[in-house]
Amino acid sequence: MTLQEEIRRRRTFAIISHPDAGKTTLTEKMLWFGGAIQMAGAVRARKSDRHAVSDWMELEKQRGISVTSSVMQFPYRDCIINLLDTPGHEDFSEDTYRTLTAVDSAVMVIDSVNGVEAQTIKLLNVCRLRDTPILTFINKLDREGKEPIDLLDEIESVLQIQCAPMTWPIGMGKRFRGTYHLYNDVVSVFDPNAEKGTSEIIQGIDNPRLDELIGDQADELRIDIELVRGASHTFDREAYLAGKQTPVFFGSAMNNFGVQSLLDAIVELSPAPLPRPAQSRAVEPDEPKFSGFVFKIQANMDPKHRDRIAFIRICSGRFDRGMKLKQVASGKLFTVSNAITFMAQDRNTADEAYAGDIIGIPNHGTIKLGDTFSAGEDLKFTGIPSFAPEIFRRARIRNPLKMKQLQKGLHQLAEEGATQLFRPIASNDLILGAVGMLQFDVVAHRLQFEYGVDVIFEPFDVATARWLRGSDADLKKLADKHGFNVALDNADDYVYLAPNRVNLNLTQERFPEIKFLETREIY
Ligand code: G4P
Repeated sequence: MTLQEEIRRRRTFAIISHPDAGKTTLTEKMLWFGGAIQMAGAVRARKSDRHAVSDWMELEKQRGISVTSSVMQFPYRDCIINLLDTPGHEDFSEDTYRTLTAVDSAVMVIDSVNGVEAQTIKLLNVCRLRDTPILTFINKLDREGKEPIDLLDEIESVLQIQCAPMTWPIGMGKRFRGTYHLYNDVVSVFDPNAEKGTSEIIQGIDNPRLDELIGDQADELRIDIELVRGASHTFDREAYLAGKQTPVFFGSAMNNFGVQSLLDAIVELSPAPLPRPAQSRAVEPDEPKFSGFVFKIQANMDPKHRDRIAFIRICSGRFDRGMKLKQVASGKLFTVSNAITFMAQDRNTADEAYAGDIIGIPNHGTIKLGDTFSAGEDLKFTGIPSFAPEIFRRARIRNPLKMKQLQKGLHQLAEEGATQLFRPIASNDLILGAVGMLQFDVVAHRLQFEYGVDVIFEPFDVATARWLRGSDADLKKLADKHGFNVALDNADDYVYLAPNRVNLNLTQERFPEIKFLETREIY
């Protein structure tokens, strides 16, 4: 196969959803339909990551599992699918945001009973930053949920994205009989006892076989479909690829139903690897030379060795084992002989990988989040966001002799993206910022086990942070006046730590020449 053909058959996506909508179940069923796992239940073991710290730490002991399941690659039809996992717990949402920068499309799962939920809104807004194309899967049709038409209205009004129904459900809850595909003119009949959820496929909505099987509901469906065709948007590929319209599928992941139509849509509708913006130019996926960027860093199995795996999304070209890759920021060359790929459930050593794929490179903390790797060119991919944290803590150490280890530990963990680190100009404080409380627990745990530092996190009077952009003279003026509020982040970028919104507004008014940014790209 040529380089172009290999790349064109890649589909790299993530599933986004509010907890409990059915992401884990859908992931598992996709792997099963793709033939990557033998039976259901294999993915479920990971689910504990969203329940409690103790569960998370227990899980950390089995990091091998979580590393492998961060990226799941499997073949489906003639495509190679890369499904990137995102943590279920909203406390780790920063990780999710970054993972979303590494995909070409996303699948949004909506619970038919609960409709659009808080986390769905947040994640969709992140997808919107890059106009990521989104397929929607409305799940749990085997339960009495909201009316399908109301669900589409809710998605359109709350999420501000057009819906194009691709399938339409026949009844719901106890009366759920299957779905009709509006474009293929095919009814898939639901049977919870059938191995793949479907007992029969009926060609044509007017087929009398439909009346035989589902009685009165057949005519109800015909009327529904007429209405739906009149009242809803028709699928528009351009609008989908621009992130303006979402094709909608209905099903029940638990019952395997609708999963296949969704996988077919990923193959047929979702984009192959897309060009990526770099500082100097856009990089096309089928350029022969390798390039990629680090979107995630994860500590490896053995905490004593402080081994990390840097996850690289390949943006162009092909990777071969033993290849020399340049870390652009440092200019250093890495001979990558031990990269891993993520075929199904096994962690394999990669012999080759292509644009769209993810490879993992073990290292000892030399690779940073956001790093670009290339075959030699001084490229710099843009667009990995850091979000203003919402919770702040001051790190205090029990044994002052361990200060060096604390600084080193916090610095490295910040580079991994576990939390953000801020050092106010006018004090020696080490301030941590996070999006969720669990992040602090995880950092305290890791500081203790990986760096031998016993740390306490104290409340710190900051409500929000803003990255500062302005001339050196203006920034110095601000720092001279508010030295306790102006800090340097882990990349030595200036940040304003505001004790409250009023203070933030006042300061912004007083320094109109400085920009206060809520997100910052990691360079
Ligand atoms: P998440 O990863 O998005 O958090 O959701 P997950 O797949 O874990 O699903 C959340 C709950 O919803 C699970 O029930 C799961 O079995 C159920 N579920 C998923 N798909 C469907 C569906 O199509 N229909 C119905 N009725 N339920 C569905 P649980 O009780 O929390 O867990 P479990 O005891 O079933 O494992």
